[in-house]
Amino acid sequence: MYSRRQILKGSLYGMGAAAVGSGIPLTSELMASTPRVDFVAQHISHKLGANDIETKNMYSFGPTIPPTIRMKRGEEFHGRLINNLEEPTTIHWHGFRLPNNMDGVAYLTQPYVYMGDSFDYKFVPHDAGTYWYHPHCNSLDQLSYGMTGMIIVEEDEDPGFDQDIPINLRDFRLGGDGQFIKLYQPRKTARAGTFGTMRTTNWMSEPTYEAQAGSLVRLRLCVTDVTRIYKLSLPKDAEAKVIAVDGHPCDPFPLRHFAMGPGQRADVAVRVPDVEGTEVAITNYSSNNPWDVVKIKAKGQSVKRDLAEIGALPDNPVPRPDLSNAEYIPMEFSAAAEKAAVPNPICGGLGFKFWAINTSVWQKDGAGDPNEPIKVLQKNKSYVFEFINRTPHTHPIHIHGMTFQILKSNKREVAPWWTDTALVLPDEKMQVALKPDTEGDWLIHCHILEHQKSGMTAFMRVE
Ligand code: C2O
Ligand code: CU
Repeated sequence: MYSRRQILKGSLYGMGAAAVGSGIPLTSELMASTPRVDFVAQHISHKLGANDIETKNMYSFGPTIPPTIRMKRGEEFHGRLINNLEEPTTIHWHGFRLPNNMDGVAYLTQPYVYMGDSFDYKFVPHDAGTYWYHPHCNSLDQLSYGMTGMIIVEEDEDPGFDQDIPINLRDFRLGGDGQFIKLYQPRKTARAGTFGTMRTTNWMSEPTYEAQAGSLVRLRLCVTDVTRIYKLSLPKDAEAKVIAVDGHPCDPFPLRHFAMGPGQRADVAVRVPDVEGTEVAITNYSSNNPWDVVKIKAKGQSVKRDLAEIGALPDNPVPRPDLSNAEYIPMEFSAAAEKAAVPNPICGGLGFKFWAINTSVWQKDGAGDPNEPIKVLQKNKSYVFEFINRTPHTHPIHIHGMTFQILKSNKREVAPWWTDTALVLPDEKMQVALKPDTEGDWLIHCHILEHQKSGMTAFMRVE
């Protein structure tokens, strides 16, 4: 009997070789000046959420919860992926504008990194803010088993918080024995997706973080779950404001039933209460039994800071599209024409085609015919995409390597946020604008991974 992994590895060699032929270096040399961060993909055991049983066979980028990486805007980052898993993997830097061969999409932008191999990622982050990283190879399995970490790209000038807390929000799909169960149920894949069973924040259950009374805390929320759309709220009287969405600064607003889908981030400035022991909680209301995803507890004597001391964050240098000269491109998200089973074990396709973009079904993880982009875009030209949702489900639509601005919707008031992932509601038509600035093949997909893996994926070529 062959294990699924053996088959996977065996069938991939041909395709890996094809990608090498496209001239992407397997590893580049170390630059002495840049300190290197090692990401060691490995199996670990860990007690997740409220469990006191260790969950075995988790996947991680380190010996515990995947580390939060700090980068400096404008300074080269050097990360080395070392693969100690028995299956190929990669790292995708979600939300970054970077060279195409650093984007981490197996087969499309780089060869698979096999067991025992390594790959060096080097790029300069251009935009400050909150981002994350995850594999882009057999992604439903690898993310579900634990491989998601956060990235903080520091602003040039310190905005002046007393504390900065990354909050990695996600569920794990565990049985009563604390071990992983089947990651998806096809009938749910064809709907909103299959939910996890253990809710976690930084892999813990409803953690409380202590902070100096009266101080200013920056909470960086990041939804790394593969399915769940959160709806997050702070109490009305909390002294707090959202200051950035999906990495980019926004006009401040209160955190109130704010919907965040897989892949999305929000930075919240919180002024800790003055009275020692007082707690402020962020609560998720997207389920019938709401829960506190995180609590901040005041300790010590109040330092009496004021939220107004935090000024507006500086804008990121995202290329601004010219709306008067933009080309209009509709992007329709729909169910696939036939809901057929397609046997396809390549790097994590689920073997079903349920979903489509502009009627094209591409169920594989970057492994399609590289000669067939869904659109060819010109570098430095402006575009208006219309995301048209023809389904009764919400889809977080993510574009690699480009930052787009939300323009309007036929269903609601929208703010002109810059983002890489937009939540598109059932029957919504949302217009967004962008100006691609880097050549290459860039994915567009739903970040509900079961949707991505059963058809709602395509790529665009910028030339
Ligand atoms: Cu966060 Cu294509 O990924
Ligand atoms: Cu979707």
